[in-house]
Amino acid sequence: MKEMIAKCRQMVEIIYNKYDASHDLDHIDRVMKNAEKILLTEPTADELVVRLAVLLHDIEDAKYESLHEATTVEMLKQIGASEDLSANVMSAIESVSFNGGHSKEITSIEGAIVRDADRLDAIGAIGIARAFAFGGARGRKLYDLEEEARRSMSASEYRSKETASVTHFHEKLLLLKDLMVTEEGIRLAKERHDFMVLFLNELKKEIE
Ligand code: ADP
Ligand code: NI
Repeated sequence: MKEMIAKCRQMVEIIYNKYDASHDLDHIDRVMKNAEKILLTEPTADELVVRLAVLLHDIEDAKYESLHEATTVEMLKQIGASEDLSANVMSAIESVSFNGGHSKEITSIEGAIVRDADRLDAIGAIGIARAFAFGGARGRKLYDLEEEARRSMSASEYRSKETASVTHFHEKLLLLKDLMVTEEGIRLAKERHDFMVLFLNELKKEIE
């Protein structure tokens, strides 16, 4: 198991190094740490499936598709994963994306763990850093108060492609706390959520 994970990490490293700081290898390593914490409280989960899904979960992210041609399934083949293992990893990865609050249903505990672990890295102090890194990499505005008022709390209008970074908090990041599914994920999300609220209040005071 260790060898397969090490080989996989080596393969994805080259790819994530091309992504901006919001989705780089450090993101993957932080998500892995979050997943390890959640795994401790979910003894029925398959650790190998979780670890491989964490390593591969952002490979086919449409936002970065122009940067490489590798596919997740091919990579699983290359590290010697069986058909079964590969199918389980793919299914876990499929449940990760937020998609305006309309994520695919979670069909396994492994999918739930990877999704919660990824979402934890989108909130709190690190979530704040990542949102501005992502916006910066795409030349977005820091905030846009009019846009924010229009989009606030309406996930159905989710259009992450055009928004100012602070708008992203209102259309996605502030909603994540209530979308966590594992007990440990729910617990860990609380403190991070409260810190984001504190940050946004402080920011409002300074810019208004
Ligand atoms: P998912 O994998 O759930 O679809 P994304 O890859 O869209 O999630 O988002 C992951 C992280 O990328 C967000 O938590 C945020 O930090 C950053 N991000 C994505 N879209 C935006 C945006 N429009 N503005 C600022 N940050 C963004
Ligand atoms: Ni991710």
